[in-house]
Amino acid sequence: MTTMESLIGLVNRIQRACTVLGDHGGADGTLPTLWEALPSVAVVGGQSSGKSSVLESIVGRDFLPRGSGIVTRRPLVLQLHKTGEGRPEYAEFLHLPNRRFTDFFVNLTLIDLPGLTKVAVEGQPDSIVHDIENMVQSYVEKLNCLILAISPANQDIATSDAIKLAREVDPTGERTFGVLTKLDLMDKGTNALDVLEGRAYRLQHPWVGIVNRSQADINKNIDMIVARRKEKEYFATSPEYSHLSSKMGSEYLAKLLSRHLESVIRAHIPSITSLINKTIDELESEMDHLGRPIAVDAGAQLYTILELCRAFDKIFKEHLDGGRPGGDR
Ligand code: GDP
Ligand code: NA
Ligand code: MG
Repeated sequence: MTTMESLIGLVNRIQRACTVLGDHGGADGTLPTLWEALPSVAVVGGQSSGKSSVLESIVGRDFLPRGSGIVTRRPLVLQLHKTGEGRPEYAEFLHLPNRRFTDFFVNLTLIDLPGLTKVAVEGQPDSIVHDIENMVQSYVEKLNCLILAISPANQDIATSDAIKLAREVDPTGERTFGVLTKLDLMDKGTNALDVLEGRAYRLQHPWVGIVNRSQADINKNIDMIVARRKEKEYFATSPEYSHLSSKMGSEYLAKLLSRHLESVIRAHIPSITSLINKTIDELESEMDHLGRPIAVDAGAQLYTILELCRAFDKIFKEHLDGGRPGGDR
């Protein structure tokens, strides 16, 4: 494992410990600050735009509630753990700590957010539209959150909720990745080259086109491997998109994200390190007070975070200090 990979692994573990700790940690707000300094990836987009499908195909596994009429009602946080050689890799939801998923190839924290809606449906309060938007916004406005802005190719890009929201919270577009789903569902005689080649809506990062499984594929239990192969074939044999085929599809998107996340971590190492040092100090003084009855779990979690912070600091000092962050490569 490279130093960068161990750092990413530690960042993930700190993030996880902070989540488990929840509201118990850092009465002074240090832990929430640390959480915000750590990178993650969130998917945003309208209902049924393909958000859950995209997350799954990035990971290469089936694990999310997905399908027409199936709605993600609260943010689902997924962590992918890439472990050392010979040991299995696994992913887990922070809200489902006992379910692990193996066999993927990126190292990310992913957040599946509820879909943006335009109108409240039967039985929902009118405030739902704004409530969802505010909640989604609270995740994606964090500067270290990479935004996967999902727009379906069979709708006009000018009406894309994802792009609208991404533009609000990330005007320069440096942390926004435009993902165009449902290329296979476009009207015959039309294509998405204007979007994919950056003419319709220019983004800092290149647009990535995706073909996820259709509802019929899901009903037939078409598995991820077959879906991936079909997606590759789609681009390779498409008269419109074959010239772009090496930069399209779920696997390419996963690589793009992984690379970007690594560069984000590199750039943030100095600030993460100083935050961690501050956190160590504050956790230590908090530990001094733990003689009085705070929840036992919270105490154990504080120790875990403290240890992780120290490990991070140690790796940083041993390998990356001295102005050569990432010089091990
Ligand atoms: P979410 O609500 O945004 O999470 O969307 P889902 O991932 O649940 O997908 C909604 C529906 O659209 C499901 O029936 C998917 O099978 C279908 N779908 C998503 N992406 C594509 C795609 O690229 N092509 C086709 N044909 N169907 C898709
Ligand atoms: Na859905
Ligand atoms: Mg979904």
